[in-house]
Amino acid sequence: MCGIIGYVGEEHALPHLLEGLRTLEYRGYDSVGVTVSLGGEEPLLTVKTKGKLRELTEKLKTHPAAADGRCGIGHTRWATHGAPDDKNAHPHTTRHLSLVHNGIIENDAELRAELREAGISLLSDTDTEAAAWLLDRLYADSRDPVDALFRTAERLRGSYAFAVIFKDRPEVIYAMRRDSPLIVARGAQGCALASDVPALLRHSRACARLPEDTVAILRRDGIHAVNRRGFAVSLPTEEVAWDTEQAQKGGYAHFMRKEIDEQPDALRRTLSPRIRDGLPHFSLPSLDTDRIRRVRSLRMIACGTAMHAGLVGKRLIEQLARLPVQVEIASEFRYRDPLLDPAGELCVFLSQSGETADTLAALRHARAAGVPTLAIVNVVGSSVAREADEVLYTLAGPEIAVASTKAYSVQCALLTLLALRLALVNGRMTEEAVRACVRSLCEDVPAAVTATLAMSDRIAALVPPLAACEHLYFIGRGIDADLCTEGSLKLKEISYIHSEAYPAGELKHGTISLIEEGTPVLALMTDPSLSAKTLTAIREVRARGAHVLTVTTAALADALSLSAENVLLLPAIPSAAALPAPFALFPAACALQLLAYHTALARGCHIDQPRNLAKSVTVE
Ligand code: AGP
Repeated sequence: MCGIIGYVGEEHALPHLLEGLRTLEYRGYDSVGVTVSLGGEEPLLTVKTKGKLRELTEKLKTHPAAADGRCGIGHTRWATHGAPDDKNAHPHTTRHLSLVHNGIIENDAELRAELREAGISLLSDTDTEAAAWLLDRLYADSRDPVDALFRTAERLRGSYAFAVIFKDRPEVIYAMRRDSPLIVARGAQGCALASDVPALLRHSRACARLPEDTVAILRRDGIHAVNRRGFAVSLPTEEVAWDTEQAQKGGYAHFMRKEIDEQPDALRRTLSPRIRDGLPHFSLPSLDTDRIRRVRSLRMIACGTAMHAGLVGKRLIEQLARLPVQVEIASEFRYRDPLLDPAGELCVFLSQSGETADTLAALRHARAAGVPTLAIVNVVGSSVAREADEVLYTLAGPEIAVASTKAYSVQCALLTLLALRLALVNGRMTEEAVRACVRSLCEDVPAAVTATLAMSDRIAALVPPLAACEHLYFIGRGIDADLCTEGSLKLKEISYIHSEAYPAGELKHGTISLIEEGTPVLALMTDPSLSAKTLTAIREVRARGAHVLTVTTAALADALSLSAENVLLLPAIPSAAALPAPFALFPAACALQLLAYHTALARGCHIDQPRNLAKSVTVE
């Protein structure tokens, strides 16, 4: 998810571009750049860099001419293809144009091969540059920007939002999109386009969303749009009431809530590139058949929420692939001189930021011991991603809120896919069974998460008694015990309520002494094979005065004749009963995230930046 900005008008473009990029940094911030039209011999000046806006501002000091132009485009990047560095930063320039892009071109390998054939060598590792050169060559044919853009669109598979300036038309910005957003606005001093509303509010509150299969043409004196047949397309404006900060959150009150709601899309975006012919497909040597057959055990190493995803990974890989998995708290791992097996072990490092010092130190320890390392990371080009032998990116998009939500879900989804791949290669599951699981993971799970999101008000209604307490217990068995660890952390870190996750069967061995009249207990029960035993634990704590909130499925509530009082029913996964994988974990995790969110709201806590915490803990 990247940020695009463009301006053409009576004023100098650069200040508008830089301010627009600053308001779009929440969409991605690993590299940044601008192209400004200067006219003359070299009509376009492009300045770009790895890093944030401050690095670009520094670099611009050596290009004073950039301040003169009155037309320009800019881009702040969230890398998906190619690490964050100067050559991969946008804009990408070719013989005839400069282009910025938000989205993922899925057939970029095919385009690259074609360009190689034509003797064009690309400077970057990005899918964007391949698309830029495709457009360049089509433009060279016709010298008609609109025709060249539509012909380019016919060749592309995937998502895109493009803003383009052609060298021989330096005072005009052309734009086109598919799936990725583009919005235009006309202000008193010129016209502007952007990936999102915040960057346009300085120009106008009357914004128009560019339709697909349409080319927008922005000049100083106005914006017009045409379709493939050359007919004018109207661009109805909407009046935006938000201020800039609200607009950065897409109208949400908090990034955390926005990111919770992004989970269905994040799941689909992360899973779909890793599935071919209905089966898990990772184009990683460490996960090809021969290498997998040599894996005798795995180790999940991470911190916090990522470590909790590792618990889920352990559960799924051991259950489906019958391979032993250890889960390690990264900050403990290297200090206990772990017994490693370089010949038969695979160490998996989970991290949203890819910069967590404890996880990075553990990775270096494993590499020094010669153990194969695989990183599952959300930030492309981050330290953990670069230093592991191989990396599998989660494509959740930037996660801004300190409390991790969508990153957890996509980590669990990738680990599920990994478990299915291991099970298939090791003959523990048939192709048919794996296909059924993959189909459910890609279709039923996002749908169940979407349905859970729609329960937000129902979940909020359960909060008052929880928000009034100072101690709360999460109990569950099996994968529910794993989920309880994450539910407890979410609640603690944003509502500051002390909570503890406890395997339900273990309570009676000591901790139950803490249960007294009115103690709130959240019981998670999604695993049919263990629900009767969890119900026993619910009865044990109730008998001692606990107020129990049970989070379960309708099927289990019926089977156990649970009363409707203090029971939250999760959306069903239609195929769940027939599948060996416990996919109810995904709606359950989403429900616990919303419970924490609403509880923290009720307690007036700062949602996106909780006290004492940082988004990425880069110190040991
Ligand atoms: C999760 O909500 C916390 N912010 C924290 O536990 C986090 O998961 C942990 O610091 C690991 O971060 P990482 O995934 O970026 O490595």
